[in-house]
Amino acid sequence: MELTEVEFWDEYWANCRLPNVVDGNFSFDRCLRDELLRSLAGCRGEVLEVGCVPGKWLAFMAEDMGLVPSGIDFSKSGVECTLRNLEMLGIEHGRIVCGDFLKLPADRRFDVVLSLGFIEHFSDVDAVVGRHLDWLKPGGTLVLGVPNFRGVYGPIQAVLDKTVLDKHNLEIMSTSFFEELGPRFDLILKSVAYIGSFEPLLPMGRPGVTGPAQFFVKAFLRVCTYIRRLRLFDRLNSRFFSSYILAVYTRES
Ligand SMILES: C[S@@+](CC[C@H](N)C(=O)[O-])C[C@H]1O[C@@H](n2cnc3c(N)ncnc32)[C@H](O)[C@@H]1O
Repeated sequence: MELTEVEFWDEYWANCRLPNVVDGNFSFDRCLRDELLRSLAGCRGEVLEVGCVPGKWLAFMAEDMGLVPSGIDFSKSGVECTLRNLEMLGIEHGRIVCGDFLKLPADRRFDVVLSLGFIEHFSDVDAVVGRHLDWLKPGGTLVLGVPNFRGVYGPIQAVLDKTVLDKHNLEIMSTSFFEELGPRFDLILKSVAYIGSFEPLLPMGRPGVTGPAQFFVKAFLRVCTYIRRLRLFDRLNSRFFSSYILAVYTRES
């Protein structure tokens, strides 16, 4: 079962800022960028991003890693934004398909299949991972990234807006989930790690303040956004406060 609906994403991407690129001044982008460069060093060929809007990671993988980018997303406004973004950035790309990933037939295979913030929106995650593999060449690389709404983020997000937690499958937000996933799919785990250190922009709130707890949490996060400009915290990671989990697998040939 999917925990979000297409209408939610259409509205989410309706006012997407363009051009939209990976920004080294933003702590989360910087940490994910560095981990992708490290863990995908040596990858060549074509990459498919599942849930690809707004295309900033596709642009990054094309420009900095030499991969030919394609993507799938079911949000019409999101796909339009992605196409405009790639065009503005002058990125040559393969297909950017608007469609439901769970229903689209896998009509070709890629060297790298990647999703960032996708699989945690489903209750039956194994089925969704299986569909990623339908698009992956034997010997290819599978990259799965999810936010970590466990640890300190659970209570923080509950104060700001609990409905956000309901849209995420919290059970998969641990490195042990990704370690155990590999053998179920004949995947060799190359790396899995908590990354991103503490990220004050991960918790999502509505505009305004509804009480003292929200006031305190919002003020605390605001102060942290300044502190997180310092790169020295990037390497400080733990399951309690790191904002993201990135797992990289090789598919057996
Ligand atoms: C958290 S966003 C991913 C953001 C993006 N990859 C990034 O970090 O730059 C998840 C994306 O998955 C898309 N999505 C969710 N369910 C989908 C489905 N069943 N088929 C295709 N796309 C889907 C949404 O429209 C949304 O754009």
